[in-house]
Amino acid sequence: MLQKSIEQALNNQIRIEAESSQIYLSMACWAEVQGLEGVAQFMYKQSDEERQHMLKLVKYVNERGSHAKITELKAPKTTFGTFKEMFEELYKHELFVSNSINELVHITLGEKDYSTHNFLQWYVAEQIEEEAQAKTILDKINLIGEDRGGLYLFDRDIQQIVVTSSISLNQNI
Ligand code: FEO
Repeated sequence: MLQKSIEQALNNQIRIEAESSQIYLSMACWAEVQGLEGVAQFMYKQSDEERQHMLKLVKYVNERGSHAKITELKAPKTTFGTFKEMFEELYKHELFVSNSINELVHITLGEKDYSTHNFLQWYVAEQIEEEAQAKTILDKINLIGEDRGGLYLFDRDIQQIVVTSSISLNQNI
């Protein structure tokens, strides 16, 4: 059974992952109605991945004899300004999640819970990938600037990232 402090911290992370999934789902909907099909598919995929991150935590907490709590979530925004602003928001959100995971890892060390510490290493590695991916996309967007043709190509290219991340998601879970 997990210590209460660890159970609470993991439940907090469960909520953060669930909220991340909702934020990216909302971004997917916004991109879809703007006609950015590739960006929308990317965001739907991100949303699915965050749900997987949440479920992995839920199962871990319950399997350790504790209780994963599913709580109310903060509603995400429904519009995101420009698609560049939306990806800036995604990047900032991933930095926030990385901080939260780091804090969680710190707590497990303080409590000498090495099993949970070990379990969380998957999330540490995942955050490195997610931050890098978001940064790469932002760099591309900055290169495109206001060019409509560039945006069209970007929307097409990002579908390739969806395919690649689908393959790695299936390999990891
Ligand atoms: Fe599960 Fe992208 O944080």
